[in-house]
Amino acid sequence: MHLLAIVNNKGGVGKTTSAVNLGAAFAEIGQATLLVDLDPAASASVHLGLDKSRGEHQTLCDYLLSEKRRLADYIYPTTFDNLWCVPSEPALSEFYEEMMQEEDMDFFLHQKDFPNKFDIVIMDSPPNMGNLAYNALAIAQHVLIPVQTQYLAMTGLELTLNTVNKVQRHLNPKLNILGFFGTHYDRRTNVAKEVLQKLREKFGTMVFDTVIGINSKLIEAYGAQKPILSYASSARGAREYRALAREVLQRLGQK
Ligand SMILES: Nc1ncnc2c1ncn2[C@@H]1O[C@H](COP(=O)(O)OP(=O)(O)OP(=O)(O)O)[C@@H](O)[C@H]1O
Ligand SMILES: [Mg+2]
Repeated sequence: MHLLAIVNNKGGVGKTTSAVNLGAAFAEIGQATLLVDLDPAASASVHLGLDKSRGEHQTLCDYLLSEKRRLADYIYPTTFDNLWCVPSEPALSEFYEEMMQEEDMDFFLHQKDFPNKFDIVIMDSPPNMGNLAYNALAIAQHVLIPVQTQYLAMTGLELTLNTVNKVQRHLNPKLNILGFFGTHYDRRTNVAKEVLQKLREKFGTMVFDTVIGINSKLIEAYGAQKPILSYASSARGAREYRALAREVLQRLGQK
């Protein structure tokens, strides 16, 4: 089982879009994939049709409040074959903080909690390096970092890398940065090209060849509560996430 955390301290860079669509791309090629939504904003859950306001399912918050804490009870199938999700909800942040203080615990999710039928577990994280992101990094084997190819992309990245570094030193020495990838790439603008070039100068081959371009079908797919791979299977965004998934699997195979 591979455990991947998608992190970037900066908001709106494409973490959730990548978690959902990479997850679907893994699932499509036969990898049983579990997306764990560690963001109280619950965007990945909503993207996959698991919207708490409909009240038809339980979330990580219920898991936290339960006595048995059996994660398997909180794993839901999605409309996409081979892709499952542990949903989140807004109350997660406050409950998590409370429980941590009351029970004097560090983390509420551990690798052993994931049923071993899964080939890949992807954790989506919030746009801050708080305790929920720490939990993802503490148990992950690999980190994927989406970088929005726009101004200030590199500034936000520094804080993210400092946090990953801190986790590697103190909590999870085996944590490995699997790679960076450009998102929201607008081929018509110079800034997109410049940011990508800077990223490649700084991180070399750690930057994936695949770049995720701006694609409105990705936004529509979110609205339709489906991965782009089923919403608009031949759209550019779908093809790019498939290509990224192949690259990620290739790197995982080399580890
Ligand atoms: N390649 C893309 N082309 C066009 N729109 C995109 C693309 N990727 C993401 N978006 C849109 O940009 C917005 C932010 O993306 P997303 O929610 O994936 O980012 P995030 O990093 O998870 O944000 P947050 O930090 O708030 O959790 C969303 O509305 C999403 O639909
Ligand atoms: Mg998000």
